[in-house]
Amino acid sequence: MVSEFSTSKFASVDQIRADFDQLAAFDNESWNHNTHYHDWLLRYVPATFESALDVGCGTGAFTRALAKQSGRTVGLDLSPKMLHRAEVDSNESVRIEYVNADFLSWNASETFDVVASIATLHHMPLESSLKKMKLLLRPGGVLLVLDLYQAHGIWENFTNLSSIPYSAFLRLKHEGRIRQHPGARSAWDKHARHDVFPTMREIRSVCGRILPHAIIRRHALWRYSIVWRREP
Ligand SMILES: C[S@@+](CC[C@H](N)C(=O)[O-])C[C@H]1O[C@@H](n2cnc3c(N)ncnc32)[C@H](O)[C@@H]1O
Repeated sequence: MVSEFSTSKFASVDQIRADFDQLAAFDNESWNHNTHYHDWLLRYVPATFESALDVGCGTGAFTRALAKQSGRTVGLDLSPKMLHRAEVDSNESVRIEYVNADFLSWNASETFDVVASIATLHHMPLESSLKKMKLLLRPGGVLLVLDLYQAHGIWENFTNLSSIPYSAFLRLKHEGRIRQHPGARSAWDKHARHDVFPTMREIRSVCGRILPHAIIRRHALWRYSIVWRREP
């Protein structure tokens, strides 16, 4: 039996907010390990739909991508500085509402056709966060999660190691350099000390209980995805 991913392992909400307020200044790259999967994730949503929620939207790159297809889009984030960047970068003609809140204590007043969360779930308890995302989906709606996992065993460690040269190649191609900007690297390294990732076994176990028939995939660049469609 796999134990629940305990809340005691997580950094406090205040610590996470402080980390991302600092990291907001460095989120300047047009390509990163998360944006690499945006188009792939968008394949699972209809060409147009009424509403979307981006949980932990950061500077809003995926929120804006969703908003091109959505009538109304909500980007929610804990960090005021991330949200400030998101607001500045968002075109006023696109219907996006940015909300500054902790997802787990947020009182949502509506449900959505698409609920997405990129590189945020590992900051929150896995099962209760996925349950809340599921509750916020309308019938027929789609849940999209992209996040990081803790490698376990030879094969997962091998694929994660092979992501090092792959990441360098992709960053060179998209950003013209192999490594992140040194300031960004050191801020991310500092933040990474608070990061705790679930194993694929924990992810599959939780999804098996609450998201029947979810499509769970492991990807290059240290990531996994969950795609789940709520019954119409
Ligand atoms: C690694 S960033 C990813 C941002 C964005 N999704 C992206 O792909 O660029 C994680 C984001 O999750 C936010 N976050 C972490 N815990 C949160 C929580 N409990 N509620 C809302 N946002 C949270 C952080 O403030 C941060 O902006």
